[in-house]
Amino acid sequence: MSEPTEDFGGIDREMWAELEARARHVRPNAYVPYSDFAVGAAVLTASGEIYTGCNVENATFGATVCAERTAIGCAVAGGDTELRALCVITEVSPPAAPCGICRQVIAEFCDDLPIMMVHPSGERRFSTLSELLPLRFSGRDFIDDRS
Ligand code: THU
Repeated sequence: MSEPTEDFGGIDREMWAELEARARHVRPNAYVPYSDFAVGAAVLTASGEIYTGCNVENATFGATVCAERTAIGCAVAGGDTELRALCVITEVSPPAAPCGICRQVIAEFCDDLPIMMVHPSGERRFSTLSELLPLRFSGRDFIDDRS
């Protein structure tokens, strides 16, 4: 299996490789009795710390939390609220992009974010939050403009 070969979004390939390794490592912990679709995520924060997460499903389905939001929750709990990069690993080809809810949650903690999506085989694709969530709604839309 190859290593990431791109310096994408200002993140060097060694860091992408580290994020991928961390996302791969956490994926087996996914709690997925309903979908059997395990997802692993790793976020790099402004402090240089990496936080990981897996999806945690629930019998009500609606209470399921995605891997990306689990990782971001851990970052916030660790005192890190500025995201710099995200890696997400899923067993589909092409590798899956974060869901709409996760895109909105990512938007809470960055202006833009380089995202690497990975399949266990080593297939990768790159995108950004601004590409995945154009014209996003943010706190600025209602906090700054109130008079
Ligand atoms: N899932 C994630 O963890 N991240 C995504 O961005 C897409 C979906 C999870 C939620 C659920 O446990 C399973 O994948 C199937 O939707």
